[in-house]
Amino acid sequence: MLKPITNAEIQLLIAQAIQAREQAYAPYSGFKVGSAVLSENAKIYPGHNIENVSYSLSICAERNALYHAHICGANTFYALAVVYHETEFAKPCGSCRQVMHEFNPELLLVLCNLRKEYRLLSLSKLLPEPFEKSQFQTHKIEAK
Ligand code: THU
Repeated sequence: MLKPITNAEIQLLIAQAIQAREQAYAPYSGFKVGSAVLSENAKIYPGHNIENVSYSLSICAERNALYHAHICGANTFYALAVVYHETEFAKPCGSCRQVMHEFNPELLLVLCNLRKEYRLLSLSKLLPEPFEKSQFQTHKIEAK
């Protein structure tokens, strides 16, 4: 599901991801992450990471952005920006990649930093071997 994304849309995504990062709740890791997803009708939905004292309950910014969008009624996603650092380019974790794949295997990723520098990458490059139901064959052990 590819769609030409404009420069203006990329700039908006980056600005929203940086703004979302301000809201991040990361008292345990101190690692604040912001994200924003572009959906149909050019709508943009932000998300940030939210941690919990029971650490494994923490959830990443990217998944929160996608779930936020989905809860608001969007289910076609074209691009997602993620930011966490002044100069480094954030890369989504494996779990988030799998969730992105569910909605768009060719999602455009905008990996950016707080200086608003960015790199574009297709999700298919970051997750070349996703978990897919179709990868399984049915086997049956015959009774003797
Ligand atoms: N985190 C994200 O929000 N996105 C990622 O892709 C990787 C990690 C968050 C989860 C946790 O709150 C903190 O960063 C440290 O792992």
